[in-house]
Amino acid sequence: MTTFPLPLSNDARRGSIACVGMGMTLGSHLTPLARSHIEQADVIFAGLSDGVVEMWLQRMHHDVRSLQPYYQEGKSRLKTYKQWVNLMMTEVRAGKRVCGVFYGHPGIFAWSPHKVIEVARAEGFAAHMEPGISAEDCLYADLGIDPGRYGCQHFEATQLLLYKRRIDPTGYLVLWQVGLVGDLSMTRFQTGSAYRQVLVDQLSQDYSLDHEVIIYRGATLPIEKPRIRRVALRDLPHVPLTSEESVVLPPAESLIPNHAMQERLAALDELSKAGALV
Ligand SMILES: C[S@@+](CC[C@H](N)C(=O)[O-])C[C@H]1O[C@@H](n2cnc3c(N)ncnc32)[C@H](O)[C@@H]1O
Repeated sequence: MTTFPLPLSNDARRGSIACVGMGMTLGSHLTPLARSHIEQADVIFAGLSDGVVEMWLQRMHHDVRSLQPYYQEGKSRLKTYKQWVNLMMTEVRAGKRVCGVFYGHPGIFAWSPHKVIEVARAEGFAAHMEPGISAEDCLYADLGIDPGRYGCQHFEATQLLLYKRRIDPTGYLVLWQVGLVGDLSMTRFQTGSAYRQVLVDQLSQDYSLDHEVIIYRGATLPIEKPRIRRVALRDLPHVPLTSEESVVLPPAESLIPNHAMQERLAALDELSKAGALV
């Protein structure tokens, strides 16, 4: 396997941090650049989806420290995420080349990788984020969705309830973390049907209760297939749903032409053809 030389910080004594993505499917999504960051680091912190993926990572580096034990039922996830930042920064400040390895893309629905990079840069350390294949990327491939066709909104499910957002039912809607929707305490890993009913009530302002909802789980192991379930919106509270699933609402309405804008652009085209535009 070719390794790519990575830029080092100017001062060899200074630490650095790289947050890289492992992708979603074990063994097949790791990019050569992410691999290089892992191989050239002094210490690895792993925020991965399961123990098997972590064992695979351990074969690539002798000092892999799991971030998973910091999660605890009843403990605020924000507290856990702050601990992760502190753990990584302690090693950066000690002059180590640190690599945080996170499943999917390290910057998508992930607080700690963004935060540790912000903190490291503020303290003058080199910091870098290396993208990975996220659940979103797999979803487009497995469900045959092109986000450019009708547009695509993404929301964290609880945030959608807590703030007044404008849903556009002419495009796709992707909801993340539906399994723990409504958990204000940030201490649970699953809420339940009463909470999902609140989400359905909110969505029913823009969609009919008959509208198809896709519950999607991308493969995390090469032997798995993606799990794709289609249910009516009204049934979303009553089906089992794990914290590893995302929910997609396909468009419910046709795109509405903006005639005024079409005429304005056509007029510009005419001027352009006549050579009247600079
Ligand atoms: C904290 S976010 C992490 C996302 C991750 N950083 C990424 O790039 O995909 C967790 C949410 O990602 C989505 N997710 C995680 N694993 C998934 C999978 N295997 N299939 C579909 N969605 C998944 C779910 O919405 C889940 O609640």
